[in-house]
Amino acid sequence: MLVSVARDITDIGVKLEFVDVGGGLGIPYQRSTDPIPTPAEYAAAVMPVFLDGIKSIGIKPEFWVEPGRYLVADSTVLLTRVNSVKRSHKTFVNVDAGFNLLVRPAMYDAYHEVVVANKTGPEYSGESGADTRSLATVTGPICETGDIIAHDRLLPPIESGDLIAILDTGAYGFSMSSQYNSRPRCAEVMVNDTREALMRRAETITDIQQTMENLPWQK
Ligand SMILES: Cc1ncc(COP(=O)(O)O)c(C=O)c1O
Repeated sequence: MLVSVARDITDIGVKLEFVDVGGGLGIPYQRSTDPIPTPAEYAAAVMPVFLDGIKSIGIKPEFWVEPGRYLVADSTVLLTRVNSVKRSHKTFVNVDAGFNLLVRPAMYDAYHEVVVANKTGPEYSGESGADTRSLATVTGPICETGDIIAHDRLLPPIESGDLIAILDTGAYGFSMSSQYNSRPRCAEVMVNDTREALMRRAETITDIQQTMENLPWQK
């Protein structure tokens, strides 16, 4: 399609310096099933089409890509604490991070791996002895039925106070976050080998209110 666009643009007299295919390479969010190509596989699929196309037009633009998630998605883990566990027609694990912090699952059904960070030993995965895992749905604290981070995941027995790690939140996590429901955003911590440092402090309710004004007739 871009070759055909490049041809049309060339036909009207524009000299193309580059053709930019944008982002979209992604990462294997669902580790066991996602077929994400390596850059080499991506190039092997795209470059012959691009090179044939520009040759047929008789132009020599550069080929540009804009990888987003491929570069940064797996840089970040969102840590969230379990508030409560509700056993009903299914098990709901209620955590303190909602779609104000990570909107991808609620917005477009994105999949993020979920790990119980304080229960990662072999005794929790069934590798040593009986498998104690069962299906649980991880839900946020916001008053919306869509505030679900992960549906029906096989997780070890979870109780209030456990720490859940939501993986691959480095792309479109903070940048798409909001203060919806008057929920301040969480802190961000940089980990570098054995060092860690606060990159951004957590917001407070005061941060949310500080741009608000009292209306003249309310003073
Ligand atoms: C103009 C532009 N380029 C590149 C990207 C990166 O996309 P991706 O994260 O799918 O690689 C985006 C994503 O919003 C974009 O808007």
